[in-house]
Amino acid sequence: MARKTINDFAQMVSKGEKIVYLTAYDYLTAKMQEKAGVDMILVGDSLGMVTLGYDTTFPVTMDDMVRHCQAVRRGAPNTFVVGDMPYMSYQTSNEQAIANAGRLIKEADVDAIKLEGGGPMIAERVKAIQQAGILVMGHIGLTPQLMGQIGGYKAQGRSAAAAMKIVDQAKVVEAAGAFSILVEGVPAAVGKAITERAGIPILGIGAGSYTHGQLLIYADMVGMYDNFTPKFVKKYANVGEVLTNAFKEYVAEVRAAQFPVDAEHTYGMKEADVKEFLA
Ligand code: KIV
Ligand code: NA
Repeated sequence: MARKTINDFAQMVSKGEKIVYLTAYDYLTAKMQEKAGVDMILVGDSLGMVTLGYDTTFPVTMDDMVRHCQAVRRGAPNTFVVGDMPYMSYQTSNEQAIANAGRLIKEADVDAIKLEGGGPMIAERVKAIQQAGILVMGHIGLTPQLMGQIGGYKAQGRSAAAAMKIVDQAKVVEAAGAFSILVEGVPAAVGKAITERAGIPILGIGAGSYTHGQLLIYADMVGMYDNFTPKFVKKYANVGEVLTNAFKEYVAEVRAAQFPVDAEHTYGMKEADVKEFLA
């Protein structure tokens, strides 16, 4: 399967086919996701928490993003990859935003970049990056980089006025030239309203079932990241438990000198060579 393009996504939307989107941060995971047939991979700045062990996404740097986007690209050469713009990589100026978005394209071969927010400054950045020839995905609703201003990591748009504001943000980001918008952490009714009026693919994470596609953080949905699990996450596996049990078994077998005792896991040597060697 060839890497999908915006034309493929437009066609999927018009046919009512859902776009399947997952985060990945490393080679192995991206490889499995491509094998599983995921349509789009996000190298999210959530890698700060999931892969680097920070409490928030704030410390993530452009160098972190480039490195992890490269790894994901190597694992999923035929999948549409979106690289997230980390905090303060696009806020300060159009020039800086274009240069940083360009790094993800030039150094990591991503297909698009994503940035958070829906105000006038973000519209300006979306427009500038888009005019430089780069596909931009918007991200509205629960936007972790605006954590302080939105009052923490919690659902957004739950009052009529707040819902209207998010619908307006979608309009602003679309008008600025985004090729798609990710809507995070809003009631299903808000996800639906945005999707119905949009002319571009609307992807949701914790935004109900009406969006054109769905995203989850892979480490949440396979049960690997257990520091915090949002309400909208469905656990499809308990990989964290599987790995921990494997590590425990290994610990026990090595301590008990039970590994590696079998010939299957040991290099052999011909008897004659052993004799000559030990003589
Ligand atoms: O960084 C990320 O993974 C994201 C999603 C949570 C939306 O931006
Ligand atoms: Na992000």
